Order: sequence, then structure tokens, then C-alpha cells
Amino acid sequence: MNYELISLTRDPEDARLAIITLKRSDVKNAINKAMVAELTRAFDALREAADTGCVIITGEGPDFAAGADIGALRERKALESLAAINSALFAKIENFPVPVITAIRGYALGGGCELTLACDIRIASETAQFGQPEVNLGIIPAAGGTQRLPRIVGLGRAKELVLTGAVIDAQEAYRIGLANKLVPDADLMQAARKMALTIIKKGPLAVRMAKAALNQSSRVGLDSGLAFESTAQAILFESDDKMKRMTDFLEKKKKG
Ligand code: COA
Repeated sequence: MNYELISLTRDPEDARLAIITLKRSDVKNAINKAMVAELTRAFDALREAADTGCVIITGEGPDFAAGADIGALRERKALESLAAINSALFAKIENFPVPVITAIRGYALGGGCELTLACDIRIASETAQFGQPEVNLGIIPAAGGTQRLPRIVGLGRAKELVLTGAVIDAQEAYRIGLANKLVPDADLMQAARKMALTIIKKGPLAVRMAKAALNQSSRVGLDSGLAFESTAQAILFESDDKMKRMTDFLEKKKKG
């Protein structure tokens, strides 16, 4: 499949790990309509490939993504805005059946930050900078930013970030829980791959169910989240994979 603004590769150590790289480094990987279309196509293709166990998204060059393309945003009117193309892509990523990790260096601003929020785990290098500077441009973060950011960092911190448009460094992002991990720049991909390869070794059905259940926790009331959680667990209790993994554990113990 051909892509121009992104690349989609498989990890040489384990092909179940897919790596997507944003490739518009001349404009700090600003996300335009064509890139959204390619990302949508890539996630659809990965969904069809039954062997995908985890995805990493990263940016080419020194930055992750400095936002949605401001040139296009300036021309956008209400009707096109309501079509919510970026939002639809980010929802697709959030609902993608297997975990999606972002490896972030440099700027992750505006739509770039929102893309990372839709992912399950954010790994930041020490050069990373996060922000929702939309209010500077007279708009709001509307590709999920106002909804996902407070769920990750809490309402107070999300309000401060969105209302001031402040850009925070990697240390601060790590401190407030926006970045799950903070690593030296040279170790960024290695750290993201290590996390992905750890996840890939777990029960594939369990990982999918865990992600789906965790997603419910921030979307619906506690009661329906708990009901979803116990339904998912009931399904897992009947799975061959669970039987095999538990048997392996018990057999190993018996053998000492
Ligand atoms: N959309 C379109 N182009 C963008 C962009 C965006 N979101 N962010 C950066 N670029 C382009 C710049 O226009 C510039 O292009 P040029 O070389 O043709 O002039 C190029 O990327 C390099 O950016 P530049 O601004 O020169 O780099 P800098 O180091 O001085 O500043 C930023 C970096 C990120 C602080 C600055 O580019 C910026 O504020 N970008 C917009 C951030 C933003 O508001 N994002 C939210 C959008 S919803």
C-alpha cells in the first residue's frame, strides 16, 4: 500500500508490532487532510491484518506534530468543521482493538497533542513539548482535546492547559501524568518498542478486552463500566488462551 505523508512498517524483531511515522517534517509534521486520510487507511489495513498486536506512532525528524495544518484550518468553515475528520480518526485510534503507543519528541501541539491523547500510552523524550494552543488561534481543541485531556490529567490541569494555551516541557508532562514515561532522546524508540513488545507477549484476547474495558471506564458511568468489565472477564474465562497460560504457570510451579 502506498503512503506519501506517513510510513507504515513492521518491527524487525516482531512483525506483530506496526510502526507508523508521520512524514511532513518540513512543517513539523502538521496534520493535514491528506495525512488524516492516509492514517485512516493505515489503521483500517492494520485492523484487517489479524496479526497486529500493537502499534507505535511517531514523527519523523525532531518533532512529533505541531498541530493541525493552520493553512487549512484558516479556510475551514462551520460545516467542514462539523464533519470532524480529525475527531473521527482519533476515535478510530482510541477504539483500535490493540494498544497504540505514541513515541514523542519535540512538539506535540494542538491536533498533534490530541493525537497522542487518543493513544493508550505516551512515551516522551526529554525534548518533548505538549500543548493545546488553539485559543491562541481563536478556536478550541475540538478533536477530542477537551474531553480526553481532563480524563488523563484531571479537570483542573486540563483547564489550565486549554484556557492558557501554555506549552509544557517533557518534565512537566511526566509530572502531571500526560507522559507515561520520560526517556533520553536517543532511547525514545527503544523505550516505546520495549513497552510494545512487553504488551505483545501477553494474552492477545486479554489485552484487547482490557483496553476495551479501560476505555469504558472514562466514557460511561461506573456501573455500566463495571458491568462491561465483568462481561469481558466472563468471556476471557472461557478462552483457550487463558486456559493455556494458567496451565503453563501451574505446570511450571509443579516442576519447581
Ligand atoms: N500548520 C502548518 N504549518 C506549520 C504548523 C502548523 N500547525 N506548525 C509549524 N508549521 C510550519 C511553519 O509555518 C514553518 O513553515 P515554513 O518553513 O514554510 O515557514 C515550519 O513549519 C517550521 O515552523 P517554524 O514556526 O518556523 O518553527 P519554530 O521553531 O520557529 O516554531 C512552533 C515552532 C511549533 C512554536 C511554531 O511553528 C508554531 O507555533 N506552530 C503552530 C502551533 C499551533 O498553534 N498548533 C495548533 C494548531 S491547531
